[in-house]
Amino acid sequence: MGVQVRPAVDNDIPELARMVGEMAAYHESIDDRVRFDWKEIRAAGRWLKLVLERDHHAVWVADHGEGILVGYLWVHLRRLREGYQPPVVGYISHAFLEEHWRGKGLMRQMLDIAYDWFRAKGMTVVTLGVNHRNWPGSAAWYKLGFQDWSHERRLELKPKVRGNEPGF
Ligand SMILES: CC(C)(COP(=O)(O)OP(=O)(O)OC[C@H]1O[C@@H](n2cnc3c(N)ncnc32)[C@H](O)[C@@H]1OP(=O)(O)O)[C@@H](O)C(=O)NCCC(=O)NCCS
Repeated sequence: MGVQVRPAVDNDIPELARMVGEMAAYHESIDDRVRFDWKEIRAAGRWLKLVLERDHHAVWVADHGEGILVGYLWVHLRRLREGYQPPVVGYISHAFLEEHWRGKGLMRQMLDIAYDWFRAKGMTVVTLGVNHRNWPGSAAWYKLGFQDWSHERRLELKPKVRGNEPGF
């Protein structure tokens, strides 16, 4: 059976919520610094409904038929408040395919549809974030034309050890 790419509808929410969980588990598995609030992830059915209702968000699914989804692409418009030009950019929130469906051109197909949606909204730039240890994802984004742009860094802020402060 083939896979059809189409806009997400409310009936997709249980399958989308399942894949949001897989996406979170994937990221926890590749980088032990990544932690999710699993109560929030398990409540995805509730907040995905709000996402599907928003004009500045869009979700497409890869539909395998009989209610089975094998991937999704969730994008939104992001307003930059620090004076950047352009002031609003397209943003890739989540892009996910079940493992067996990766590398078959499905995300490229879904992105083409998303780019048309962005163009219709007047967007000229699209950005995304990718975890530094997500090597396959990072490689795929390069192949899909996304260049390095901004580098987010992280520091684990440890509690201050009492007695080690200067002056003690
Ligand atoms: C990243 C992901 C969304 C890409 O979707 P996909 O359908 O597998 O990608 P496509 O098959 O459309 O491939 C797009 C391009 O990326 C390349 N590519 C895909 N996976 C790759 C990999 N693991 N390593 C190197 N290149 C890769 C493809 O060769 C293709 O380039 P080409 O057309 O020049 O040959 C998908 O692999 C995925 O769901 N990964 C796990 C979740 C994830 O990492 N999401 C992104 C979080 S930021």
